[in-house]
Amino acid sequence: MGVTVEIEGGVATVTLSNPPVNALSQAIREGLAEAVERIEADENVRAAVVIGAGGSFIAGADIREFGLPPREPSLPDVVRMLDGVTKPVVAAIAGVALGGGLEVALGCSHRIAARGAKLGLPEVNLGIIPGAGGTVLLPRIVPADRALAMIAGGKPVGAEQAAETGLVDRIATGDLLEEARAFALDAADRDMPVPLMQRDAIPPSDPKGFEAQKAAIRRKARGQMSPVACIEAVERALAMEAQAAFDAEREAFVALRDSEQSAALRHVFFAERSVSRIARAEGAEARPLSRIGIVGGGTMGAGIAAACLLAGLSVTMVERDEEAAEAGRGRVLAILDDSAARGILSSGGREAAGAAFLAAADYGALADCDLVIEAVFEDMDVKRAVFAELDRVTRADTVLASNTSYLDIDALAAGTRDPSRVIGLHFFSPAHVMKLLELIVTQKAAPDVLATGLALGKRLRKITVPAGVCDGFIGNRVMSAYRREADFMLEDGALPHEVDAAMRDFGFPMGVFQMADLAGLDIGWAMRKRQAATRDPAARYVEIADRICEAGRLGRKTGRGWYDYTDDPRGAVDPWVTALIEAESTRKGIARQAFDAERIMDRILGVMQAEGAALLAEGIAASLEAIDVVMINGYGFPRWRGGPMFMASRR
Ligand code: 3HC
Ligand code: NAI
Repeated sequence: MGVTVEIEGGVATVTLSNPPVNALSQAIREGLAEAVERIEADENVRAAVVIGAGGSFIAGADIREFGLPPREPSLPDVVRMLDGVTKPVVAAIAGVALGGGLEVALGCSHRIAARGAKLGLPEVNLGIIPGAGGTVLLPRIVPADRALAMIAGGKPVGAEQAAETGLVDRIATGDLLEEARAFALDAADRDMPVPLMQRDAIPPSDPKGFEAQKAAIRRKARGQMSPVACIEAVERALAMEAQAAFDAEREAFVALRDSEQSAALRHVFFAERSVSRIARAEGAEARPLSRIGIVGGGTMGAGIAAACLLAGLSVTMVERDEEAAEAGRGRVLAILDDSAARGILSSGGREAAGAAFLAAADYGALADCDLVIEAVFEDMDVKRAVFAELDRVTRADTVLASNTSYLDIDALAAGTRDPSRVIGLHFFSPAHVMKLLELIVTQKAAPDVLATGLALGKRLRKITVPAGVCDGFIGNRVMSAYRREADFMLEDGALPHEVDAAMRDFGFPMGVFQMADLAGLDIGWAMRKRQAATRDPAARYVEIADRICEAGRLGRKTGRGWYDYTDDPRGAVDPWVTALIEAESTRKGIARQAFDAERIMDRILGVMQAEGAALLAEGIAASLEAIDVVMINGYGFPRWRGGPMFMASRR
């Protein structure tokens, strides 16, 4: 670990090593600063190469050091030193050059990248802006609009795209280090480029488009500070002297780094990387996964099938009869076609995915599957019958999973020959898009069966959160609690559009009632009717939603639900709904009170946090991070607020 310098044939090779991602810890910064001094001072050195050990350049500043007292040398100082070196310094980039890593590369006079390398400034995703000159240096290599797209978008660009824009000078076709050394010597024979700090920023290629771009970023930020700070930083880079812009960037960076939003986003960053562990599966080896079986080709079955195919797995889907199999097949192929149209799938990839997919009406087709996911109707008897079939047709080592939203998977497992191979895999709709997967840890699941579930999540590039068996697992249980609370608020004095507006202002993409209209009100209605017989008569029950459904208003698909869509596709406030709500309050003898946005969000967050605490106490969720990750990735909770449990921990 550390920085080594090797001098050979007039070229100094500076190698940074800090596994696993070569983050720029204090030791690395210090080593790099010493290396720069040596390059400048040593007469035998004509040029230098900076490269990362372990096949990747640098993933950025060490996020774990944020919040600790700063230690010299600072990264901005190191980058400025690099920029001022009077000999060519070539950044040799493989893997990733992210954040401070790209800033180090920008400090170098030249950049060469291996194919497949990724370069980016993802700071915005951590609630900060680049803090070592990124916003000042990048717009001195590429036009300001391109720079802003990278800085405020946070998405890395590939080496090829970086080469097109001039961000990298060359793409290496063979050995990266060898080519970088040759490039460095070649550069030493030519004139040294002027340091970026002495150049002017490059104005946007399309000034009008630049204004529209900024407006779009502001609109999308919806309460998050860092995207707006990115705009301000790039504007300063255009308007100010390089040094002044550099200093102002640092000041803005420090303020954002110390903000609640950045603390929240760092919490989520580490939470997403730690939640997938299951103690019981530790050390167990996943079973091989090549062909996945899906039972049910409806909304979820088709989405899950597509997700598997997009990840290069083979899929066999079984439906009730030929006609349903054909319909399911159509749904899957439509998703694949759409993915191809969006460029997510190449034409060769589309063909391969189609060839790896089979739809049948016969359970026997599942005989060679390694894992089967059931996604049939949400009905225990139907699911029991499906699992009995699966018991009959699958190999003894096939993992069996249910995508149920609420049902007791332990009970389902108990009805099978071998409950140790049964787990829950709860996907979110649309399953080929949503990042979240709840892995339901059944009582009897074998360690390697759990490991196989985790392996599938990884293969599908999902964030897999383990959850225990209960009604709704983590996400739907929390959601049911705040949905119920939203209904209470209607009776207590709020109106649907007030609740929805409060949630949107808080940062949710949609409020609960808009969401319900979009999903359709019939599913919840059917569930409430099923539960009616066993409902505690003493518990508070709000009948408003039932009245709305009884009126044939099932949401967007029927033109009316909580809102009226007949004239306004976004949904208009409906006096009929308002009158119904007020009548229900009167009928129950509730004096309606005014609800402002703060009071609405206090109640919603309060029940989210209380339900979260219950999930922790019952052992359904393993950590508060698990709850936050689920609410953020499955239910639209604003990432930059860190999740309900993070918010509770900061009070
Ligand atoms: N600092 C500290 N630790 C980091 C880190 C960083 N910048 N980046 C990754 N790690 C850690 C992860 O927490 C994880 O630790 P764990 O093994 O203990 O869980 C380990 O490195 C591996 O990370 P991943 O699991 O994410 O591995 P992947 O291979 O999937 O992804 C990656 C690698 C693409 C580098 C991804 O980790 C990533 O995107 N990292 C963050 C990059 C980033 O945001 N950089 C900007 C930092 S801020 C900055 O540079 C400010 C500057 O402008 C001053
Ligand atoms: P859906 O009604 O769209 O699809 C169910 C499909 O299962 C239908 O195509 C039906 O023909 C088929 N099917 C029924 N019985 C079958 C049998 N015995 N053999 C083979 N196929 C059979 O339902 P959806 O929305 O896809 O839900 C499926 C499951 O996923 C449910 O358990 C649901 O709770 C769960 N779920 C749904 C989510 C959603 O957002 N819709 C999200 C997460 C889970």
